[in-house]
Amino acid sequence: TELVFSGVQPTGNLHLGNYLGAIKRFVEMQQRDAQCLYCVVDLHAITLWQDPQALRGQIREVTAAFLAAGIDPKRSIVFNQSQVPQHAELAWIFNCVARLGWLNRMTQFKDKAGKDRENASIGLYDYPVLMAADILAYRATHVPVGEDQKQHLELTRDIAQKFNNDFSQSILAHGHGEQFFPITEPLIGGPAARVMSLRDGTKKMSKSDPSDYSRIALTDDADGIAQKVRKAKTDPEPLPSEVAGLAGRPEADNLVGIFAALRGITREEVLKDFGGAHFSSFKPALVDLAVEMLAPIGAEMKRLVADPGYIDSVLGDGAERAAAIAAPTLDAVKDIVGFVRRG
Ligand code: AQP
Repeated sequence: TELVFSGVQPTGNLHLGNYLGAIKRFVEMQQRDAQCLYCVVDLHAITLWQDPQALRGQIREVTAAFLAAGIDPKRSIVFNQSQVPQHAELAWIFNCVARLGWLNRMTQFKDKAGKDRENASIGLYDYPVLMAADILAYRATHVPVGEDQKQHLELTRDIAQKFNNDFSQSILAHGHGEQFFPITEPLIGGPAARVMSLRDGTKKMSKSDPSDYSRIALTDDADGIAQKVRKAKTDPEPLPSEVAGLAGRPEADNLVGIFAALRGITREEVLKDFGGAHFSSFKPALVDLAVEMLAPIGAEMKRLVADPGYIDSVLGDGAERAAAIAAPTLDAVKDIVGFVRRG
C-alpha cells in the first residue's frame, strides 16, 4: 500500500512555488487510496536561527495553509515534527549510517551556508539526514516535493539501502522482510516543479529572497497579486505557439508554467490558447486565474490563524496519530540495531 509523506518548513513567506510544487499536490494525493502525512517541519526550520515568537506563528500559518488549500485533517495526518520525538531519534541512528562524503555533495547546504561555512550550524549540514528520518519513520513510499528536493530524496534512498544492507541478518532474524525500509519514490513533476522568481527567471522563487516582488505570497490579496504579475520581468517577444519556443526565455517559460499549473493543464495547452499573444494580454489573464485560485486560500488562511486553539488541536491530534505509526518503526529499528529495550 502507498504511504505518502511530505513537509514544509515554517520559515515564513509561504509562496506560489511552495503551493504549486508541494501543497497543491499534497491535496491531490488525498484522492489516491493512500495514507498521507503532512508535516510542518519545525526541527528543520531551526537549522537557521528563528525568532521564537515568530516561529510559533509560522508553524500555525503553514498548518493553516495546508487546511485552506484543501488538506482534510481527518483523512490526512497533519502535525508538526517536534511533537513526534521519533523523527529526531531515528535521525541519530541514520547519522551513524550516512557517510560524510554523501553529505559533502549536498548542494542546498553549500547554497545556504554560503561563504562562511565554518559558522553554519551542524543542523544545517545534517538537514538531509533528518529529512530521511522524517520519511522513513513512517516507511513512506511516495514523497511529493519540488525539484529542489531531488538530491535530498536520493540521499534518503541511499540511507534506506545502506541500513537494509548493513543490518540484513538482523532484519531477517527479527522477522522482517529484507527491504525493511522502502526505497522511496520521489514524486516531482508537472509544470511547476520549479517555480522561478518573478524578478529573475534563472533563480528559484524562494522564501528568503529579499525582494517581495520576486514571489507571490499565499496571503497576498487580489491587488498584491495583480501588482506583482504586472511588474514581473518578461522579454519583448510575443508568446510562441510551441513549447520549444520557450527555450532560452526563462521568464516567459516561468509565467506559462505557472499558468499551466494553476489551471491544471500543460504548457502546450496554454500555448494553444496564447501562442502569438503579447504579455500585455497574457499577464491580465494570469492575474485573473491567480486571483481566482489563490484569493480564497489566502482568505481562509487568515480566518484559520485567527483561531490558534483550533490549529493547535489539529496539530496535537495529528501528532498522536503520527506517533502511533512511527513508534512501532522505532521499536523495530532498536531491536534490529541491537539495543536492549524495556520488556
Ligand atoms: N520555487 C519552487 N518551486 C517549486 N517547489 C518549491 N518548493 C520550494 N520552492 C519551490 C517546494 O516547497 C516545499 C516546501 O519547501 P520548504 O519549506 O521545505 O523549503 P525551501 O525549499 O527552503 O523553501 P524556499 O522557498 O526555497 O526557501 P529558501 O528561501 O530557504 O530557499 C518543498 O517540497 C519544496 O521542494
